[in-house]
Amino acid sequence: MTSTIEAAKAARLYQDPYMDWIEREGIHVVNGLGFDLHTVETKPWPRYGVNGVAVHITGRGDWASCFAIDIPPGTSTTPQRHLYEEVMYVVEGRGSTEIELPNGKTHSFEWQAHSMFAIPLNVRYRLHNGDGKNRAVVATVTSLPLTMKIYHDDEFIFENKHFFKDRIGKDDWFTGAGDLSLVRAGQNMWETNFVPDLSAIELTAWSERGAGSMNLMFLLANGNMHAHTSEIATGTYKKAHHHEAGAHIFTVTGKGYSLLWSEGDADFIRVDWKPGMVFAPVERQFHQHFTTSQTPSRYLALIGGGNARYPLTQKKRDYSTAKDGGQGTIAKSTRDGGSQIEYEDQDPRIHEIWLEEMRKNGITPQFEKFGGPQPKQAVAAR
Ligand SMILES: [Fe+2]
Repeated sequence: MTSTIEAAKAARLYQDPYMDWIEREGIHVVNGLGFDLHTVETKPWPRYGVNGVAVHITGRGDWASCFAIDIPPGTSTTPQRHLYEEVMYVVEGRGSTEIELPNGKTHSFEWQAHSMFAIPLNVRYRLHNGDGKNRAVVATVTSLPLTMKIYHDDEFIFENKHFFKDRIGKDDWFTGAGDLSLVRAGQNMWETNFVPDLSAIELTAWSERGAGSMNLMFLLANGNMHAHTSEIATGTYKKAHHHEAGAHIFTVTGKGYSLLWSEGDADFIRVDWKPGMVFAPVERQFHQHFTTSQTPSRYLALIGGGNARYPLTQKKRDYSTAKDGGQGTIAKSTRDGGSQIEYEDQDPRIHEIWLEEMRKNGITPQFEKFGGPQPKQAVAAR
């Protein structure tokens, strides 16, 4: 008699066309909670003609995944074109991107560590490492998992001729210009294709997220990948919150640590970070970011499954919108049906761990400077 498992196999149930592609692709794969992209192992990636690795983070979710492209000194990737979105963040090195639109028009821009750019959907592009001595490492988050699961057809995805004209934007969006929309705290947005330096771009206050917290959303190449950069002020930390899996967090400047835990967990998982790391909380896992450096810390979050312009699910829509125009569920207290833990509701151990870190690093807590609600212990200590 055939077992259920054998019958399911014979019926070709439970397929994962993305993982099938990974296997066909012959790309090196690493799996884990997070990685230092400066040291992650890369191996030849035939498609790109350089080295690469699929950086499969446990919390990567269903929509997107991360790759790292490691371009040796003075070399270039082979030209690529594909029917999935791709946002790139430069971890180290310098180089340029050449983009060729189906109408023959070309764009070229130069990048360095902390640059971010998007490849407009289905345009031809190449990455060049212009440095004769040092390699360039470019991390990318793509919507290939979603695209491959829907179409499971390499020819359609990699050899499609369609020109998505509304993904190109303005010419100067390839040179660092953009359009700023000031909507409200947490929803302020910079629309562009290329951000030359995430460590320098001006952010806007989002105090609902934490004392001194700064933020800016990016809308890149009119796509549906969510991107934002946040800054944690020295001597402070952000509030905890949770959401769906798939938020790839790239640490950009400063140093610090994050605590991660799921409802009911007795202990926290701690991730210590410095620039160049990537990690992702798993589904509904609370996460809270703390800086331990004398300068503010910034990170970049790249998240598949929709953004504030194009939310792909009702849940994503609720994250960022509220009927009264105020904060969506992402920055609303868990007491009010949201997913954020206000300072006054957090586990007291969280502030104790942080105070110890402040002592160790010789940093004076700065919560008072920013006013607003503060962790209970910080108020009690006064
Ligand atoms: Fe988050």
